[in-house]
Amino acid sequence: MKKNIVVCVTGGIAAYKAADLVSKLSKKHNVRVLMTRDALQFVGSETFKILSKNEVYTDVFTDEDKPMHIEIAKWADIFVVAPASANTIAKLAHGICDNMVTLAILASKAKKLVVPAMNTVMLENDATQENIKTLKDRGLDILESDCGLLACGDIGKGKMPDPERIIDRIDYLLANKDLKKYKILVTAGHTVEAIDPVRYISNRSTGKMGYHIAKKAYNRGADVTLIIGPNDLDIKDSFNIVNVVSSKDMYEAVNKEFVDADALIMAAAPADFTPANYSPEKIKKEVDESNDIKIKKTEDIIKSLKDKKEGKVVIGFAAESENVIENAKKKLVSKGADMIVANDITLKGSGFKSDENKVSFVYKNKNATSFDLMKKSELADIILDNLAELLKDRKKN
Ligand SMILES: Cc1cc2nc3c(=O)[nH]c(=O)nc-3n(C[C@H](O)[C@H](O)[C@H](O)COP(=O)(O)O)c2cc1C
Repeated sequence: MKKNIVVCVTGGIAAYKAADLVSKLSKKHNVRVLMTRDALQFVGSETFKILSKNEVYTDVFTDEDKPMHIEIAKWADIFVVAPASANTIAKLAHGICDNMVTLAILASKAKKLVVPAMNTVMLENDATQENIKTLKDRGLDILESDCGLLACGDIGKGKMPDPERIIDRIDYLLANKDLKKYKILVTAGHTVEAIDPVRYISNRSTGKMGYHIAKKAYNRGADVTLIIGPNDLDIKDSFNIVNVVSSKDMYEAVNKEFVDADALIMAAAPADFTPANYSPEKIKKEVDESNDIKIKKTEDIIKSLKDKKEGKVVIGFAAESENVIENAKKKLVSKGADMIVANDITLKGSGFKSDENKVSFVYKNKNATSFDLMKKSELADIILDNLAELLKDRKKN
């Protein structure tokens, strides 16, 4: 659902990054931008006007026939001060409202996210730290600055985080916490089944789908544990992450975490087969040209939980290349799952490696639902809507 977001840009070098933030936010939400006078020294207001498709206000006294600070204060679901200068943080902490940014924030009951960005010494100064603490104590959300090479040439803390991290935090702050009180276990990615120290059997699952589900479940208030195979994802989240390598590791981790979980979403693609014998030495190609690698079946993780799932919800995934719904139905029954997310891996742009997926949901007691191709992040929320329903039904029974 579209939200009303007010991005407040203040006078810091990182103001240019706010343009990217506004551009990304505007694709999903209604965005308005407020700027301080000094912010205009770093980026022009025209950029933000075009990106947000809304008038940008800097002065308290506008040409409008109503007080715009009150109008915007009431309109907002959230204020995001990014970058937040030391000066603006100080003003916010002391209720000084001598510009459009500080005035609208003071006049609003909306949520507030402050993203400090400045030189390390300025950030670590007792005055700034006390002001940040004051804001935290009053319930404003503060996003920690990143460390790295700063524009002034110093290396240290104070960089404005990337727009993606700010958007993650906005999503978290705005999400309905309908999964609060639930422990949700999510698996993601592929596993690696070693043949010898250098070779292995694996598959193309990237872990993106499961990662999006874990992230969204966390945003929706759940106590999340993500069990994930080797991956290239840039995971910096605050939920519990268990890294595994082989399908045996994943089997053990899931069985351990499942004990006190309310739900499992098995989005991982653990290998179905593993080498029957691991060779601790690299197998020499000269040894035996006809050397067959003997494989054996791995433990089926969902099936292994069939008798332990009393009162829990289990959602599985099925990557199918033919008869998608019929095969998913068979899988639902044989694995004792409550719902299967079936995807047709033969479709271009869907499934492994892609950021999008085209899936059908197969349930126990109702007809399957098919969806159009959509972003994995959007699909994650729809899967979690279904999980929330299944968890509610579980409570009723
Ligand atoms: C080149 C330059 C870069 C600056 N960068 C920052 C910065 O990154 N963070 C910060 O807090 N202040 C920075 N300042 C100082 C602020 O611009 C100054 O405190 C200003 O009064 C902030 O006003 P505002 O909070 O109303 O935007 C910088 C100043 C200059 C001249």
